[in-house]
Amino acid sequence: MSEKTTSRITITDISQRKGSEKIVMLTAYTTPIARLLDPHVDILLVGDSVGMVLHGLPSTLAVTLEMMVLHGRAVMRGSSHALVVVDMPFGTYEGSAVSAHRAAVRLMQETGCHAVKVESGCGIAETIRFLTERGIPVMGHIGLRPQAVNTDGGFKAKGRLEREREKVLEEARSAQEAGAFAIVIEGVAAELADQVTKEVAVPTIGIGASPNCDGQVLVIDDMLGLFEWTPKFVRRYANLRETISRAAQTYAKDVRSGSFPDGAEVYSFKAK
Ligand code: KIV
Repeated sequence: MSEKTTSRITITDISQRKGSEKIVMLTAYTTPIARLLDPHVDILLVGDSVGMVLHGLPSTLAVTLEMMVLHGRAVMRGSSHALVVVDMPFGTYEGSAVSAHRAAVRLMQETGCHAVKVESGCGIAETIRFLTERGIPVMGHIGLRPQAVNTDGGFKAKGRLEREREKVLEEARSAQEAGAFAIVIEGVAAELADQVTKEVAVPTIGIGASPNCDGQVLVIDDMLGLFEWTPKFVRRYANLRETISRAAQTYAKDVRSGSFPDGAEVYSFKAK
């Protein structure tokens, strides 16, 4: 899948934003939403959160490479400006660097995306290095790692206790040293997120982290008020659940009363 336009934001553009203009990132999973977001953001993330927000899964663990390919292609079709990053789902990159490479190549070739993201515990650093040395740009993801929900005993913020802090710093250092071009910091105490942002030379993108990160990301369904559960760190910019529910209620009333469709909403015979 090749692109005709060259006006997309590049990895180099993102790297140059360290400590300067904030990076704006949102998740997107479908073509129409990507079209709406694309002019306003720098990065569209096809997050594996798609499993929870669009497919009704209880966590991201059952998300497959096929799902990410499908949604990645949809977002690429709906965008021409933003850099598109696709999440590597659970089980596709942890086993070995070679299998991670195979999965990442598939994501890039079949979607046309520009980079992949991995949830980067310290043990993944060698895989990040393997991928970046072979031409695959990698975004890291530290702190609260949703794919580690079972080992962590739930979705819990990190670094609020002193004993957790060194681990988060180590995750950031190892992702940077391995060649990650940017690092998502999720669910981390604000002071610690600030320390990471000061220490690493690559841009940090916060979610439930700190306003001092080099950029921010939110899950689109959360910020539009579409998902039932809203984490503390989400600011809701719309309440689409209410809007959609009200629209469905009014439609049902109109159908039941016979007021939909009316004369202007039907076809009639033509003379010829
Ligand atoms: O899957 C996702 O949407 C993410 C964001 C929360 C950063 O990883």
